[in-house]
Amino acid sequence: MNKLAPSMLSIDFGNIERDIRLCREAGTDYIHVDVMDGLFVPNISFGPPVIKYVKKAAEDTPLDVHLMIEKPERYIEEFKKAGADIITFHYESTEDPLKVVKMIKNEGLKAGVAVKPKTPVSVLEGMLPELDMALVMSVEPGFGGQSFIEGSLKKISELRKMIENINPECDLEVDGGIKADNLSEVLQAGANVIVAGSAIFSGDIKKNVIDFLRVMK
Ligand code: DX5
Ligand code: ZN
Repeated sequence: MNKLAPSMLSIDFGNIERDIRLCREAGTDYIHVDVMDGLFVPNISFGPPVIKYVKKAAEDTPLDVHLMIEKPERYIEEFKKAGADIITFHYESTEDPLKVVKMIKNEGLKAGVAVKPKTPVSVLEGMLPELDMALVMSVEPGFGGQSFIEGSLKKISELRKMIENINPECDLEVDGGIKADNLSEVLQAGANVIVAGSAIFSGDIKKNVIDFLRVMK
């Protein structure tokens, strides 16, 4: 099933509750929460205290938390306490990704692993049986509003094939530069969870969500 995950990085932080409510009213599946530590990526966003507040606003809409932090194993428990439902961390951010996947699952959460644009999806193959989600970054992580890297389409279809062979239950999420005009090709390549930040939170939020969902469902 296809799912939409609007990225909070582009939300109006003065109106978090209002804008999350608009996404929910329009039928969003998840809220995507980007956590950046200024080390793994050259930007700092927010951490557990803010996520607790977002969780309240999101009510029963699951929080899809994307950790762009070094050594995510240090904080899994805290992000669970803050309200994460799915935790995705970066393959490149830790020495033993499989161990971190197990930590997340032991907390009773869904676990995902992300790869940066220059990391081949083949690194995920051995872990796929354990994963609830695999995330292909289609921009260099760190900032919203960048352009989709075209080479990502090939990675998405390659990963889709691997998922079908190894663990068809695993979701394939794509994050970065997705807009109304390239959404269809990202879905066609094999993505089933779509992250969109600037495309959702600029202009009419409710309409943007509805327009995306119309193409997706
Ligand atoms: C980038 C983040 C994305 C970002 C997407 O590091 O992981 O979730 O907010 O923003 P857009 O959709 O504007 O590219
Ligand atoms: Zn993200």
